[in-house]
Amino acid sequence: MKRFAGKTVIVTGGATGIGFATAKLFAVEGADVVIAGRSETNGMKALNELIPLGGKPLFIPTDVGDETAVQRMIEQTVVHTGRLDVMVNNAAMFYESVFLQETTERWREVFDTIVNGSYWCTKYASLAMFDRQIGGAIINVSSINGYRALNLSSHYNAAKGALDQLTRCTAAELSPHGIRINGVAPGFIDTGLSVIGGINELETDWFKDYYVGMRKIPLARPGLPEEVASVIAFLASDAASYIQGTILPVDGGLSTTF
Ligand SMILES: NC(=O)c1ccc[n+]([C@@H]2O[C@H](COP(=O)([O-])OP(=O)(O)OC[C@H]3O[C@@H](n4cnc5c(N)ncnc54)[C@H](O)[C@@H]3O)[C@@H](O)[C@H]2O)c1
Repeated sequence: MKRFAGKTVIVTGGATGIGFATAKLFAVEGADVVIAGRSETNGMKALNELIPLGGKPLFIPTDVGDETAVQRMIEQTVVHTGRLDVMVNNAAMFYESVFLQETTERWREVFDTIVNGSYWCTKYASLAMFDRQIGGAIINVSSINGYRALNLSSHYNAAKGALDQLTRCTAAELSPHGIRINGVAPGFIDTGLSVIGGINELETDWFKDYYVGMRKIPLARPGLPEEVASVIAFLASDAASYIQGTILPVDGGLSTTF
């Protein structure tokens, strides 16, 4: 019996990177997977790769920073498969930004995506789970940046820190409804998000010298999207039935060597 047979899983930002690796893993493990993302092109490409894996995959164009769109996406999911068991709040963006030059509009976009998007997805997913009395699991994809300082990243780090508190507080409050809420905090993972201003930070000399050569990352390498996906699936599974409100680093040990 596959681990997620008969279950429905939504992955936001699930067409690329960690989200896509997660969508594929859940599909391979028997779930009906819904990808909610902004780009139709990426979404349809990802959907075409999920179809041969089985289940009833679906792509729903969604900007998670739009409450109405999130509500509609969750309603569509429940109409499509009749249930919702796992919500993965993964959508995010990163760009370097000088704090004093940041515009309110861009700051809001980051918070709308990372904090408010996760808030709306958690709220409407929980209501859908609660309606059916089946409980469920929610996994928030945070970052080790949620609990450390970094230059040029006030918007992103503040949003991820807020997301971590959302994880803890909603876990406490929604426990009586049978909903487990946890997070993962990736370190350096090899995805499109590592390309900043056209430069892949994982291929720079400073990354290779400091993080790898000097073993600032004890495992001395960046992680793969699949290595985050497997932890997300673990947190969603019955094997994690007594884990609640925690945020697991998936960072090759980086957060232990600050
Ligand atoms: N790659 C890393 O090193 C790293 C490190 C720490 C945390 N993370 C986190 O992992 C998650 C996945 O990132 P990734 O590395 O796979 O990068 P990615 O850019 O491949 O994935 C992010 C996805 O979110 C989507 N997205 C952005 N804004 C959206 C919105 N408003 N509505 C819907 N979808 C939206 C993007 O289109 C993209 O598909 C993010 O939450 C990111 O913060 C990544």
